[in-house]
Amino acid sequence: MISGSPRKDGNTAFLVEWFAEGARSTGAQVDIVRAADLERKAAGCTSCRACQKSAVYRCVIKDEVSDCLARFQGVDVIVMASPLYFYGASSQLKGVMDRMFSLYKWDNAAGTMQTPLKGKAFVFLGSGYEDIGLDVFERPFQLTAEYTKMTYASLVVGNAGESGDIIKLPGVRKQACELGARIARFVESE
Ligand SMILES: Cc1cc2nc3c(=O)[nH]c(=O)nc-3n(C[C@H](O)[C@H](O)[C@H](O)COP(=O)(O)O)c2cc1C
Repeated sequence: MISGSPRKDGNTAFLVEWFAEGARSTGAQVDIVRAADLERKAAGCTSCRACQKSAVYRCVIKDEVSDCLARFQGVDVIVMASPLYFYGASSQLKGVMDRMFSLYKWDNAAGTMQTPLKGKAFVFLGSGYEDIGLDVFERPFQLTAEYTKMTYASLVVGNAGESGDIIKLPGVRKQACELGARIARFVESE
């Protein structure tokens, strides 16, 4: 799970913890990484395209973002969580997500794309102050899952502004827990 909020006790952090709680209740192993804590030598993908000439699925920029992304190959479920910032994901998360470019190999001449992410499950968790634009916020994650042929699920919550507001919203904790358990059971049954 990659948690994209810079706030350690914010609404996104609660969503992540609740989802993890549900997944762990089924016996799943869950690792949570805070995007803001990852040591990075580039703010995002530099479009150097070196990964496309390499045989391995790894970003050539040697930092913790590259290490984190390389681990995607060995997991069943990738969860990305973000606060809504100007109708999109936080830059902390986007900077990681763009470097996922290294996990794809495109052959434009042949019109093919290969990725070890194909067939995995991809989950998006989001929180925003208002409930305006939540569909736009979610769309890049949904489309990325479709493009990559990953099973997609999400929980996007509005009306949570101040840190911890999300605790007061009825049913959200249960929804997040249940989603975590459901996804973990789904991948176990595959
Ligand atoms: C830079 C910034 C931009 C934001 N933009 C929006 C926005 O466009 N729409 C919205 O509803 N909330 C916006 N918010 C509010 C956050 O989405 C909201 O407080 C969210 O729950 C924060 O999640 P967190 O507690 O995990 O950090 C913004 C907050 C910040 C700091």
